[in-house]
Amino acid sequence: MAYDFKTFHDRSGTYSLKWDNVIKGENPGEDTVPLWVADMDFASPPSVVEALAHRVDHPIYGYTNLPPMYFETLSAWYSRRYGRSWKPQHFLLAPSVLHGLSMAVRAFTQPGDRILNLPPVYYPFYKVARLNGREILDVPLSKNDRWEMDFAAMEKVLAKALDEGRPVKALLFSAPHNPTGRVWTHQELLELCTLAKKYDFLIFSDEIHADLVQRGHRHLGPLDLPELADRTLVFAGPNKTFNLAGLPISHVVALDDGLRSKMKQALEADFYEQPNVLSLSAALAAYREGEPWLEELLAVINDNKNFLDQFLEQLNREWGLDPAVTSQPLEATYLAWVDVTGMIRRGNFTDDTDFAFFLEKTGKVKITAGSIFSTGGQNHLRFNLATPRVLLEKGLERIRSAGGKNGEFYRRG
Ligand SMILES: Cc1ncc(COP(=O)(O)O)c(C=O)c1O
Repeated sequence: MAYDFKTFHDRSGTYSLKWDNVIKGENPGEDTVPLWVADMDFASPPSVVEALAHRVDHPIYGYTNLPPMYFETLSAWYSRRYGRSWKPQHFLLAPSVLHGLSMAVRAFTQPGDRILNLPPVYYPFYKVARLNGREILDVPLSKNDRWEMDFAAMEKVLAKALDEGRPVKALLFSAPHNPTGRVWTHQELLELCTLAKKYDFLIFSDEIHADLVQRGHRHLGPLDLPELADRTLVFAGPNKTFNLAGLPISHVVALDDGLRSKMKQALEADFYEQPNVLSLSAALAAYREGEPWLEELLAVINDNKNFLDQFLEQLNREWGLDPAVTSQPLEATYLAWVDVTGMIRRGNFTDDTDFAFFLEKTGKVKITAGSIFSTGGQNHLRFNLATPRVLLEKGLERIRSAGGKNGEFYRRG
């Protein structure tokens, strides 16, 4: 390995949301292992750190233009990694992905309009719609061997909404899917395409996890289907790929001129025309030189996923859990989606939220409770795997010791 994914970086004093927003223990100094929010504990690629240091060294941080080579760099990235022929002129600069999605909701839909959501899903999608006064219609994914879109249920909801004279105007789409780790297949996208055309809705495709696709899978999104080009906007950025959540910068891709000019207007109306000076330096370095680092990161995530799976298998055996705790295959993202029904039952917890709270408060390991992702998330936990192995191991061992001899999680404290 050419890069360092082992060093533990103490993030205390950096105002880290992941490390600071945990229930504080009764004993000061008692740590909690944070395996929750999607933020990595790995240093960003050395090229990014160097580029930032270099830019900070110049003591003036004034208004900053986006250099034309930024979108050329992105265009080359998408061509090289995905075989996509997205041209520099197809890109728009946006602040964060959520910020872009929220602007798109306001630009392309009206207050009171209906927006489709496919839970369990990245929970801020609900806020994006509701805080803008839009109504969410949920069509839960179905849990088969893997999590899948339920096209029949989707059609029912779409047809009913149309009948009511209040048709669905847009879909908030997570591709690859957070939290289930799915990479959508061409066949699935074709079926989605049929519905989008028949019921005439837009697709806001959040592809922030696209670069984090594991070997054996190929990321595809709605914009890979030419028939969907006139109704799809893609929202993505370097934030998840290179661990730059504190340096927001993202891009919107629209192949359709009309969609793009409307989105451009929305960005201008929010006075977003120039990038943050440090975000730009980081993103440029990441996309130009970060690829070898990303390849190693993907291998590290895969190894950590295998480690988690082995750990869960052992616990299933040791504790004789019924049903066995199961972790979904990780097609993409660094987030493992685990059905912990067996642990919730054995420990007599009310639900996943109760269990996650216990783990955080008493077990000193914070893992995201599945219910926050809405329907389908019940009885699940979402583990963040993007952390040095020692820390992952420490977090998992805390589950084991909190569980006691046979996973009954004797309630203490
Ligand atoms: C699916 C998805 N979209 C968007 C975001 C947030 O992106 P940003 O910080 O650029 O708004 C996340 C972060 O976890 C995410 O998982």
